[in-house]
Amino acid sequence: MSKKITIAVAGATGYAGRELLKLLARHHGADTVALGHGPGEPDEPISATFPDLAKLCDIDVRDTSFLYERTDLQAVFLALPHKAAMAAAKEFLKRGVRVIDFSADYRLKDPLVYQKWYGVKHEDPENLPRAVYGLCEHYRPQIRKAVLLANPGCYPTSVTLPLIPLLKAGIIRPEGIIIDSKSGASGGGRKPSQGMHFVEVNESLKAYGMFSHRHKPEIDQELGYAAGAPVDAVFTPHLLPIERGILSTIYADLGRHKGPIDVMTALKEAYANEFFVRIKGEGVSAEIKNVANTNFCDIGFAVSGSKLIVTSAIDNLVKGAAGQALQNFNIMFGFEETTGLV
Ligand SMILES: NC(=O)c1ccc[n+]([C@@H]2O[C@H](COP(=O)([O-])OP(=O)(O)OC[C@H]3O[C@@H](n4cnc5c(N)ncnc54)[C@H](OP(=O)(O)O)[C@@H]3O)[C@@H](O)[C@H]2O)c1
Repeated sequence: MSKKITIAVAGATGYAGRELLKLLARHHGADTVALGHGPGEPDEPISATFPDLAKLCDIDVRDTSFLYERTDLQAVFLALPHKAAMAAAKEFLKRGVRVIDFSADYRLKDPLVYQKWYGVKHEDPENLPRAVYGLCEHYRPQIRKAVLLANPGCYPTSVTLPLIPLLKAGIIRPEGIIIDSKSGASGGGRKPSQGMHFVEVNESLKAYGMFSHRHKPEIDQELGYAAGAPVDAVFTPHLLPIERGILSTIYADLGRHKGPIDVMTALKEAYANEFFVRIKGEGVSAEIKNVANTNFCDIGFAVSGSKLIVTSAIDNLVKGAAGQALQNFNIMFGFEETTGLV
């Protein structure tokens, strides 16, 4: 493909936006022409916020509403908080711009489930049915044609990639799945808060969002599709005293007469042709340091009797956000899927 795709990034002054701009700087097919920030912030070069972007992206960042006026955009990445994302998506879709949304606004198929978990009414139910869930390795045919792409959540990506093939093949039971996930502090975004203060996070580890984290319904939705039956997983996230990375340790019951060879076969078959998923040997754990700053998901497992432990590691800002978004962009616009990502 010779002509570049003209794109904008809203939420460029956030952590996920910055990660995307770093990746886009090495993408030969994307022409980043406009950047958006939140209300009330100054218009200035993006390098004033992120000095590491100097010479990689030398354009000014302006209020996101300014982006709506551009008539040259073919795609927009929305690295915005939920609610702000659906308000912006509506505007871009009206103008025929393809949208890649980092937020949860279009991930849940049922707007009432969205309202229950996010505490706000869904403001764009008209576009919701058009949204394609962007778990690249499992929805590629739909992603190719998507005009509205719901980029998956970081924790859900780390959980669904290993479990979908195992549920589809009946290797594990859909009941009794327990997910223990741990994330680095960049998962909370750039806005300062007491819970994310260095002194609170450093040299500590704690669970949060027990039985109430917003990624639970997304995990249940996608695992339910794979199982062909409702899934009600126990999901407990933890805050790690590191900058980036997620490790999910998942406990599941094997189906009747299923063992480690079945687990390995299902995972290997599902991901034989997938560059960004790496299956480790039995008894080997996935590890954050091996995936940090990459778009890889590493998956390991161990079996004892009828019990399975799966470990899965990703970088929350890359495969969990900007990297997967760029992988989706590549699929949507016909680029080699690894472009800008390796
Ligand atoms: N961080 C992760 O690991 C991660 C992983 C997966 C998905 N996500 C999702 O990606 C999105 C961005 O996350 P983040 O961690 O990058 O958050 P962040 O660091 O807090 O950045 C949020 C961005 O949105 C802008 N913004 C805030 N309110 C806005 C509004 N009303 N209108 C327009 N722009 C607005 C902010 O601009 P100002 O700086 O000018 O306020 C900033 O650029 C969220 O939906 C998040 O759930 C994040």
